[in-house]
Amino acid sequence: MFDALARQPDDPLLALIGLFRTDARAGKVDLGVGVYRDETGATPIFRAVKAAERRLVETQPTKAYVGPEGNPVFLDHLWTLTTGEAGKGRATAALQTPGGSGALRLAADLMALMGTRRIWLGLPSWPNHAAIFKVAGLEVVGYPFFDVPSQTVLFDRMMEALSGASAGDAVLLHASCHNPTGANLTDDQWRAVSDLIAARGLLPLVDIAYQGYGRGLEEDAAGLRTLLSAVPEALVAVSCSKSFGLYRERTGAIYAACGNAETALSVRSNLASLARTNYSMPPDHGAAVVATILGDAALKADWMAELETMRQRITSIRERLAAGLSARWQVLTAIRAQEGMFSLLPLEEADVMKLRAEHALYMPASGRINIAGLKSAEVDAVIEKFLSL
Ligand code: LMR
Repeated sequence: MFDALARQPDDPLLALIGLFRTDARAGKVDLGVGVYRDETGATPIFRAVKAAERRLVETQPTKAYVGPEGNPVFLDHLWTLTTGEAGKGRATAALQTPGGSGALRLAADLMALMGTRRIWLGLPSWPNHAAIFKVAGLEVVGYPFFDVPSQTVLFDRMMEALSGASAGDAVLLHASCHNPTGANLTDDQWRAVSDLIAARGLLPLVDIAYQGYGRGLEEDAAGLRTLLSAVPEALVAVSCSKSFGLYRERTGAIYAACGNAETALSVRSNLASLARTNYSMPPDHGAAVVATILGDAALKADWMAELETMRQRITSIRERLAAGLSARWQVLTAIRAQEGMFSLLPLEEADVMKLRAEHALYMPASGRINIAGLKSAEVDAVIEKFLSL
């Protein structure tokens, strides 16, 4: 019976973790999967997370089920963090999910259930976006977002493509710190695309997974807030993996901003029933940690301070990479203005494989680099490796 199954290829991004681990060469550098690393190469646990965990160990009264919706305190705090004033008083359906991917999958299942046929996806995007939408039965239509050779956002072409979308189609947007390009929309462009989405009756699904890694906590959510103020309905998928360093705890949420409270109740019931027949209930620990941090002024301030230090470290590495790489690829001065963990270099797959084979420099075939994974001490050597191409 099992032999009816065709073997599936490994996820290329996740496979890189194993390939890097088994490479015995000294001086190997991992620019692959999106995790933050500090100057010692470690992915640290935030101080505030450790403190919240200690508190939970002492005070958590039970491990009984939380229910398909998850932790309501977590959901409230996270909504306020991501949407600020724009989300206040909005009729919202919210569900805690196993990470941002779980949020996207629930969003996709919900859309399929309500008859959404197509979702428009800016290209290039995180490879798992299209995979999640397709497995939920949605048709994925690409729209131009970013031109790699010139390192520019193709905003006019994006608007032209979205003008051809039909009412009821969904549109995926990255809130900030775009994965894989690091390129973001300007405030004016957010206003323009929000107006277009509202005018054409499209349903936006905003993926916010790197809040605090780009220009700052508020700034990284500004586009999402502009959009929320302009549209009657929206889906927002939030990941706490990077912003709280909770990767393996699988902590996220899906929110549906609705036109009224009645609709919100109906959406919530549908999300809950989708969750129930899939994984039943979300894991508790990460959400309990985030709820503890965001509900405590001192822990929140400490978390924000540590996140800001990380953001500044990424920014300074961006500056050095931009200066070094632009000696060979002039367009890569753009790395400085790009934001978040990633940039997408104008490399051929053969270049990527050569760097891996000859220099133990690891990145996915697309040429995406995880800048947040690089130590300052490695930057010059990494630039040299690229310049050797
Ligand atoms: C990435 O793009 O590297 C991260 O979002 C990790 C993942 O799950 O792919």
